[in-house]
Amino acid sequence: MCGIIGYVGNDHALPIVATGLKNLEYRGYDSVGIALNENGIDVFKKSGEIDDLDVPETHPSNCGIGHTRWSTHGKPTDVNAHPHTDEDGEVAVVHNGIIDNYEALRAELDSHTFTSETDTEVVPHLVEEYLADDHDLRSAVEATIARLDGSFAIAVTASGHDGFVVARRDSPLVVGHGDDGAFVASDVTAFLEHTRDVSYLEDGDVAHLTTDGVSVFHDGEGTDRAVQTVEWEAEAAEKGGYDHYMLKEIHEQPQALRQTLSGRLDTVTGDVDLELDLPEQYLSSLQEIQIVACGTSNHAGRYAARLFEQFADVRTTVETASEYEFSGGRDPWRTLVVAVTQSGETADTLSAMRRAASAGARTLAITNMVGSTAARDADHVVYIRAGPEIGVAATKTFAAQVATLTMVSVYLGRQRGTLSGDRASSLLSNLRELPGAVQQVLDDEERTRDVAAEFVDSDAFFFIGRKLGWPVSLEGALKLKEISYIHAEGFAAGELKHGTLALVTDQTPVVAVLTDGAAPRKSLNNVKEVESRDAPVVGVSSLDDTTKYLDVEFTVPELGVLEPLVANVYLQLFAYHIADELGRPIDKPRNLAKSVTVE
Ligand code: G6P
Repeated sequence: MCGIIGYVGNDHALPIVATGLKNLEYRGYDSVGIALNENGIDVFKKSGEIDDLDVPETHPSNCGIGHTRWSTHGKPTDVNAHPHTDEDGEVAVVHNGIIDNYEALRAELDSHTFTSETDTEVVPHLVEEYLADDHDLRSAVEATIARLDGSFAIAVTASGHDGFVVARRDSPLVVGHGDDGAFVASDVTAFLEHTRDVSYLEDGDVAHLTTDGVSVFHDGEGTDRAVQTVEWEAEAAEKGGYDHYMLKEIHEQPQALRQTLSGRLDTVTGDVDLELDLPEQYLSSLQEIQIVACGTSNHAGRYAARLFEQFADVRTTVETASEYEFSGGRDPWRTLVVAVTQSGETADTLSAMRRAASAGARTLAITNMVGSTAARDADHVVYIRAGPEIGVAATKTFAAQVATLTMVSVYLGRQRGTLSGDRASSLLSNLRELPGAVQQVLDDEERTRDVAAEFVDSDAFFFIGRKLGWPVSLEGALKLKEISYIHAEGFAAGELKHGTLALVTDQTPVVAVLTDGAAPRKSLNNVKEVESRDAPVVGVSSLDDTTKYLDVEFTVPELGVLEPLVANVYLQLFAYHIADELGRPIDKPRNLAKSVTVE
C-alpha cells in the first residue's frame, strides 16, 4: 500500500520526511520519492529502496512531502515514482489510491506533456491550470479534487506557496501537531517519534499545513477535527492497533475490495473494464480455460472455474501448478491458461505458465504485484489491487482474486455473447455490495472469537461445502491448519461419506458452508450425517431455516454467487481466533513462506 508523509515547520524537512518514509517501509513499496519546497521545488525519486534515494546531505527547506509507491498504474520505474510534477516542476504531488477518470482528464489536458504512466500525474497538471487561473493553493486543490473520480489521499506543494495542501476521499490521512511543526501521513507510524497529538481527517476534508499551523476545511468552510493522543507504540501502530498483520488484513478486506473494483464496473450496461484486450475471434473460438495456481490462489481459481463455466460457457479446469503439463488432445490456439498468483513469483506457477506458453497457448496472469515475473511473462495481465499482504496466510488477496476473477468471468461472458446484459448487471451489483457484506461479517467478530474459544481443544476439523462452497471449505481448512497447526481438511460435502466419515467423532467439529451458490439443501443431508456421529456442527449459512440443524450458526447476507466468498471471512476469523487462543506465531507460521520461489 502506498504511503504518504509530509512536514512543514521550523526544522529541516529532509531528515524528517526521509525517516517518515523509513517508518512506512513495512507497508511494502517498490519506489520512493521526496519533494522539498524552498524557493522552487526539488524532487528526488527512484524505483527501489529509500536507502537508494540520491538526496543531498542537507537541504535548507522546511517543507517537504514524501511517498512510498506500491504500483497499481504503471510499472515501478523512476519516472512512475511519486512525487509527480507539472511540466515546469512548479507543483509536486504525492497520491495514494486510484483516480478512475485519469484517461479522460489526460485527454482533456492535451496541451500538457505527460511523462509517466500513472493516474496521479493528472493532478499536478490540473493544479497548475487552476493556479494559473488565480486560485490560491487550497482552492486550486479543491477545484482539482472536484474533477477526480475514485479514491485518493493527496498532498500538494507548489513553488511560491506556503506549506502544502492535503485532501482525502476513501483513503486515510492523519495530521500530526508537533511543537516545531505540522505533519501529515497515511498512518501515524510515519511521524510518531515527533508527536503523538493527531487529528484524523474525514472524507472530503482539505487541510492546509503551513509554518503557522493547520487549517482544515470541509465543503469550503473552516472546520475542526478533534486532537487525540496516540497511546500505541510504533510496532502496534504499524499493525493499525491489531495484534497481527493477518487480523489487520482480514479487516482491510472491504477497502481492498473497493480498490479492486474501482472504476471497473458498469452496473447499468453490465460491462467491465479490465483493460483486457483478448482478440474477439480468439474468444469466440475458445475451447478451454486452464487455471494454474498454488495454495490459496488455487482455491480462488477453483471458485472462478465454476463462474467461467456458468457465465462464459467454456470448459475450465484447475490445475495444481506443480503438476501441470500441457497435454494430449488440446488445441493450444484455443486454450487460455490463467495463472493466479498473489506474488507473481511462485516458481511452480511460473513454470506452468512457461510450459503453456511454449506449447503455444495464450497466458493471462491474475496477480497483485505490478512488475512481477508473472506480470512480465504473461501475454495479458489483470491486477487484483489488494495492496501488500504481510501475513503469510493469504486473506485479503483471496477475496480480491475471487472478485477480480468474477469480473473476468463477466468480461468473457459478455465478449462471447453467453451472458446477458441483465444477468451481468445483477452480478456486478452483487460485486458492488460485496465490501459492505464483508463488513457485516467483520462486525460479528466477537462471536467468532467466542466460538473459537469453545472449540480450541478439538482433535481435528472438517470443512464441507458443495459447488462454490467446496473451494471455500478447502480454503477454510488451509487457513486453520497453517496458522493453528490443528489438523483440518476441506471436502466436497458429498465426498465425506466415502471415507473420512470414519474419522468423525464428538471431538471433530464440522464446518459447513450453506449459502447460495453452494447447493446448501443438499449439504444439509451431510450435516445430518455428521450430527448423528455426534460431531458439533458450525454452519455458515444464508438460509433462514438452518438453525435447528446447527450447534453454531453464522449468518451470511444475501449476495448470490458471492455468498460463499463472504462466508469465507467467517472462516478466516475463526481460524485466526483459534490460532490466537493457542498463542501461535500467526504472521509467520512455522515452515511456511509468503512466496515460494523454488519448485
Ligand atoms: C505460499 C503462501 C500461500 C500462497 C501460495 C501461492 O505457499 O504461503 O499463502 O497461497 O504460496 O502464492 P502466490 O503468490 O502464487 O499466490
